[in-house]
Amino acid sequence: MYDYGPLGAALKNNMENHWRRLYVLGEGFLEISCPIIAPEPVFKASGHLDAFADMYVECLKCHESYRADHLAEGLHDNPATLKEDELGELLNDNDVKCPSCKGDLTAPRKFNLMFKTSVGAGVSKPGYLRPETAQGMFVNFSQVYRHAREKLPVGAVQIGKAFRNEISPRQGLLRLREFHQMEAELFVHPENKSWPRFSAVKDTKLPLVPNSGPPRVMTLAEAVDQNVIVNETLAYFIYLTYKYACDIGLDPSRLRFRQHEKDEMAHYASDCWDMEAELSFGWIEMVGIADRGCYDLQAHINHSGSELMAFELFDEAKEVEEEVVRARFDVMGKLFKGETKKIADALSKLPAESVKGKAEVSLDIDGQTYKISSDCFEIIMRKEKVSGRKLVPHVIEPSYGVDRMLYSLLEHSYTKKDDYIVLRFNGRMAPVKAGVFPLMARDGLDSIAVEVQDSITFAGMTAYYDDSGSIGRRYARMDEIGAPCCVTVDYETKANGTVTIRDRDSANQVRIKKENVAVAVARIVSGAGLEALEGL
Ligand code: ATP
Ligand code: GLY
Repeated sequence: MYDYGPLGAALKNNMENHWRRLYVLGEGFLEISCPIIAPEPVFKASGHLDAFADMYVECLKCHESYRADHLAEGLHDNPATLKEDELGELLNDNDVKCPSCKGDLTAPRKFNLMFKTSVGAGVSKPGYLRPETAQGMFVNFSQVYRHAREKLPVGAVQIGKAFRNEISPRQGLLRLREFHQMEAELFVHPENKSWPRFSAVKDTKLPLVPNSGPPRVMTLAEAVDQNVIVNETLAYFIYLTYKYACDIGLDPSRLRFRQHEKDEMAHYASDCWDMEAELSFGWIEMVGIADRGCYDLQAHINHSGSELMAFELFDEAKEVEEEVVRARFDVMGKLFKGETKKIADALSKLPAESVKGKAEVSLDIDGQTYKISSDCFEIIMRKEKVSGRKLVPHVIEPSYGVDRMLYSLLEHSYTKKDDYIVLRFNGRMAPVKAGVFPLMARDGLDSIAVEVQDSITFAGMTAYYDDSGSIGRRYARMDEIGAPCCVTVDYETKANGTVTIRDRDSANQVRIKKENVAVAVARIVSGAGLEALEGL
């Protein structure tokens, strides 16, 4: 578990806000906010209670625990695909010992990664901290669908904390027990294959590592045509993920998309592509883009009985034939007298499949149980004109890990200049947008600098006032935290109202009018060079 200080928290907010800009403003996803704790039935239904587990081994000497598949890296192409006994055999055959004390290890055992808690006093009920933000969006599907005036596709997003009791979180921000996710759940028609905005991005070339065949760089159009990516919708969200990563300043030459092996996928996924970034740790997953099919909504329907479904209106009404249960009033009337109608009504609501071949059906009505023998009803074919049908939408889910991307931004932005670090943050992500310095903290230069600082902050950007030490030292401080520019107020400012503005990456400077500083900083923050300040 990590704390973010003022700069880290600001960087994280900037990353989250840009994501909102793409998904909520750009794509029209609906942002919701659900509780972190959910009761046990939610995770029983979602499959997390039974299947959300990793395998660990424990050292018999020092009792450290390790992810079993991580210890098998280099011994197998993809140890995450192995079963308990296969992994045990692999570690055994290769005589793998405890990395810290060389002691013998136990056989791999499964460990559920959810944090358990109890809800309420006295006879409390079990609850769990969410291991992904996704489930909140599934259980709220009907609200989101209604808000979207009952039309598909509809997307929900959530930005917030997720919790996993990771077995060996030893890579800083890359593997936390409490971390931040930005997740989008796109609910689409089950037969959906195309995506309206795909044509605008189809010529984007991306490095793909499919689960069969060699890695390749290809356009998204080629990937869909050659069935490397299963459909346009998944391809579009792979594109959007790439765009987000480039927008925030990850190095495009250190990004790739890797398709999961069939036996590597999470229990809910039918296809999954990870965006990975190359770091000093190797290639690390940043984002998982999964086709979750109807798995989640169907699972919640089955467990809770809630109708998490959409309604498809046909172009014109169709005649359909279906088997239905029909009560036989002649038989029932004699047996149930005045209660016949209510029992017959309940009976006719049962799906035909559920009573077929049964000698007796049991019905609970108003707290009373009625046993109804099969001679009380029959199954008939009924023709009906229907205007549409209910369906369980499919889900495409891009799931982003904020902390992993934040760490990657630090690595990808890290450069060294002379004897100090320069973080070449993308301007939009930089926690501080500009340093503002009076050449001297006297002669009125300081109060002009405060005015300049105010003009930047009132325009919604962070500006850091600094009047201590040499100007060179002050530039270095701002370079180290990745501020894209610095503004200096000097004696010429008093004479003609101009200030210098220095660009972090080129270290060049130009003079502009002090009343134009906020506009100039905004241009630099959005990626323009000093030439874009001409005339200011
Ligand atoms: P890994 O295989 O590395 O454990 P995962 O496949 O379990 O990751 P997902 O379940 O797909 O990860 O989670 C979605 C995203 O959430 C990941 O791409 C990652 O960025 C982030 N994430 C998952 N687990 C952690 C963690 N323990 N710490 C930080 N971020 C995480
Ligand atoms: N919602 C995807 C994951 O966190 O596993």
